[in-house]
Amino acid sequence: MDQLLAFTITEPLLGQSAVCEPILRALPDWFGIEEATRQYVREIEILPTLLALYEDRVLGFLTLKQHSPYAAEICVMGVLQLAHRRGIGRALVAQAEVVLRAQGVEFFQVKTLAPTYPDPGYARTRAFYEAQGFRPLEILPTLWGAENPCLVMIKFLGALPES
Ligand SMILES: CC(C)(COP(=O)(O)OP(=O)(O)OC[C@H]1O[C@@H](n2cnc3c(N)ncnc32)[C@H](O)[C@@H]1OP(=O)(O)O)[C@@H](O)C(=O)NCCC(=O)NCCS
Repeated sequence: MDQLLAFTITEPLLGQSAVCEPILRALPDWFGIEEATRQYVREIEILPTLLALYEDRVLGFLTLKQHSPYAAEICVMGVLQLAHRRGIGRALVAQAEVVLRAQGVEFFQVKTLAPTYPDPGYARTRAFYEAQGFRPLEILPTLWGAENPCLVMIKFLGALPES
């Protein structure tokens, strides 16, 4: 793959599970729990998903879940390992933020594996989210079961103008 990767980010699209599932399946160190992966596939199908494209190839995706007029979440995201560290994840998050700010969303959260469960892959994931401006908010020790402590990370996207 070229050093300089001329990828593009799509607008949020519905019905993208068929092109995103192979990315989840190619990242077993992060998405190794079959039941959780199937749930992500179901959610990707019905939730708005931004794709990172290189020519016709999908290299990565980010699926959004909106919880209220003010708050949204990265439901799941992934980039093929051969394309890591080329700015694709950063571009997906940045484009998602453009979309959310335009809708008036103020708070952006993501849930990931907490550092209380040592895992080198997820340590890199948390470093990525921190680099995008997300900050650790709270650990939910049992949300995903005691063996998968959940860390909630949050980013303030900016307040709406006073009406
Ligand atoms: C997390 C993930 C989406 C990041 O995507 P990416 O395209 O590799 O990330 P980027 O190249 O845009 O990285 C942007 C910045 O994040 C930080 N970062 C990214 N990967 C990092 C790592 N492995 N270690 C430390 N910092 C990292 C860096 O600051 C990086 O900027 P730099 O390369 O200029 O230093 C990707 O690594 C991935 O798919 N991981 C496996 C699946 C996963 O963790 N999904 C999220 C689970 S909810």
